[in-house]
Amino acid sequence: MALLEVSGVVAGYGETEVLHGVSIAVEDGEVVTVIGPNGCGKSTLMKAVVGLARVRAGSVRFRGEDVSHRHPAQSARMGLCYVPQSANVFPSLSIRENLEMGAFIRGDDYGGRIEEMFELFPDLGLRPGQKAGGLSGGQRQMLAIARALMLDPALLMLDEPSAGLSPAVMDMVFQRIRGINRAGVALLMVEQNAREALRMSDRGYVLVSGENRLEDSGQALLDSPEVGRMYLGG
Ligand SMILES: Nc1ncnc2c1ncn2[C@@H]1O[C@H](COP(=O)(O)OP(=O)(O)OP(=O)(O)O)[C@@H](O)[C@H]1O
Ligand SMILES: [Mg+2]
Repeated sequence: MALLEVSGVVAGYGETEVLHGVSIAVEDGEVVTVIGPNGCGKSTLMKAVVGLARVRAGSVRFRGEDVSHRHPAQSARMGLCYVPQSANVFPSLSIRENLEMGAFIRGDDYGGRIEEMFELFPDLGLRPGQKAGGLSGGQRQMLAIARALMLDPALLMLDEPSAGLSPAVMDMVFQRIRGINRAGVALLMVEQNAREALRMSDRGYVLVSGENRLEDSGQALLDSPEVGRMYLGG
């Protein structure tokens, strides 16, 4: 049984249908990347999976359970956590407060988890009282990811984790993301930086105009002339 199984999902906004029956799967421990042109529905797919966009048809199953109509907090509690493309930290709160907010729906004592996050992201542990709004782009992205990890997810979904970062900072972010996966967390990513993302992915999907276009191993997609020409900039 796949960890995440999205089958024929239809979703959109108001009258507009954006996803016309999209299907993807993520197995335990896998890294899966979704690429595709701007506006093809990548972010909408993530929102539909976590319950931020209504699933109009089709289904989302997590660990075999139908979560198509769950509230995002319920999905998060089950171990399905999401880092949005933007506005993913509270700028006026400190680093530590942001992590506490991430743990808000945990019923237990999460103090130890905060310390683990400071070990995983040493930059964040140096000045835990610093306001998130004053962090660099890379640090802010690390904090957003750490916030999602506070719930100890089985599946972490990342919408454009390298957006707006310099190449060096981007490398660092991807390195950390790989480390999170090695620790056993499955990853579902959406990336503009498709080449870099596919390199670290077990499998990938190409989405075009709200429909599945291609699906293969990360390496096979990188080697595909069509993918290279259309989606990786030649
Ligand atoms: N809140 C919203 N209300 C109405 N339409 C929206 C909303 N969010 C996105 N859309 C539209 O839905 C379509 C898909 O958007 P989505 O953000 O899922 O694409 P994307 O593949 O993530 O694009 P990008 O690569 O630019 O991030 C686009 O046409 C977009 O304009
Ligand atoms: Mg997007």
